[in-house]
Amino acid sequence: MTYSDDVIGRARVASDATLDEFYEVLKGVNAGALWTVANDIEPWFPQPKTVPALWKYRDLRPLVEQALGLVKADDAGRRVIMLVNPGKQDGSAVVGNVYTGLQIMGPGESMTAHRHMAAALRFVHEGKGAWTVVDGQKLTVGPGDFAITPSGAFHEHGNESDDTNVIWQDGLDIPLVNAMDAGFYQVHPKLYQDVDPVPNHSYLKYGVGQLRPYGFEDSWSKRYSPLFAYPWEQVYDALHNVAKASPGSECDGYILEYSNPLTGGSVMPTLSAHMQMLLPGQATKAHRHTGSVVYTVAQGSGYSVIAGKRYDWTKGDIFCVPSWAWHEHVNLDPNEEAFLFSFNDFPVMRSLDFWREEIMRDNDGHQEISE
Ligand SMILES: [Fe+2]
Ligand SMILES: [Fe+2]
Repeated sequence: MTYSDDVIGRARVASDATLDEFYEVLKGVNAGALWTVANDIEPWFPQPKTVPALWKYRDLRPLVEQALGLVKADDAGRRVIMLVNPGKQDGSAVVGNVYTGLQIMGPGESMTAHRHMAAALRFVHEGKGAWTVVDGQKLTVGPGDFAITPSGAFHEHGNESDDTNVIWQDGLDIPLVNAMDAGFYQVHPKLYQDVDPVPNHSYLKYGVGQLRPYGFEDSWSKRYSPLFAYPWEQVYDALHNVAKASPGSECDGYILEYSNPLTGGSVMPTLSAHMQMLLPGQATKAHRHTGSVVYTVAQGSGYSVIAGKRYDWTKGDIFCVPSWAWHEHVNLDPNEEAFLFSFNDFPVMRSLDFWREEIMRDNDGHQEISE
């Protein structure tokens, strides 16, 4: 059933000359008749403006590299090629209320510090030597690593390698912050932060999962994770371990959430992130849920079916799943696992009681592929 059907209990007032005249009078006093828009503003089910889409890394990478020669990172604020959703080209959302882009930093490059209301996360595609200073803590990150820059935390980035570029993916909640009219931005008053002399401070203190500081810890009262970076090797091993001990999820294969080690909750109040592993040849069942997801292929090749259309992917490719779109994933490789990194706005959906999920039960749990 579509939300525009003529149904008892929904707005179904036919237009006529008297009503049209009435609507014009209302317009003149900055008012309107709810029944003319009620079915659009309260649809039967979510009607995202953004659509499923996939970006090939082989298409984006040369353009990101081209940007390196075109603009200085600090002049640009950050040198980022942002992804634009083909269904909604205005605004900043790649899907729903989340933003993503690919940032490149040349050898030896560094940028000044700033902070903003939007929360950010990073997933490193390639290059060694990347660092970021978050809240005065220097983190070093390499390919496959995940890091956070929480709302309101000063941050500055750089690449200390002599000869390789770093390309990492940024994920932010900018569209959400703007929809809530809550955006603030500040350049660091001294341009650079005072940096804690111990690199990877947060990882040393909070990076051992089930062990936490005891007796010497000043209490952590912030709503974001005290752990700022999550290494690829750790999540890779953890996924293999969980696959030995569990059948996994029928809709996601083996999937782990990057979590706040103190609470077990999401890393930040507005954004969460996952890494999932699909066994060789594994095909998941379809489900749909509220919340928007951006996927990045960390390793392997396969395809996902999103809203009935097949999207083939390989390492580095990025694709998005809008709210309430059916989706399922297939690892095409008969010998190697596939890994999908993803980030989402699920914490917002859950905290507002907007979370809904449905698993496909018809057709053995798989969508019909339309093209
Ligand atoms: Fe920033
Ligand atoms: Fe999902």
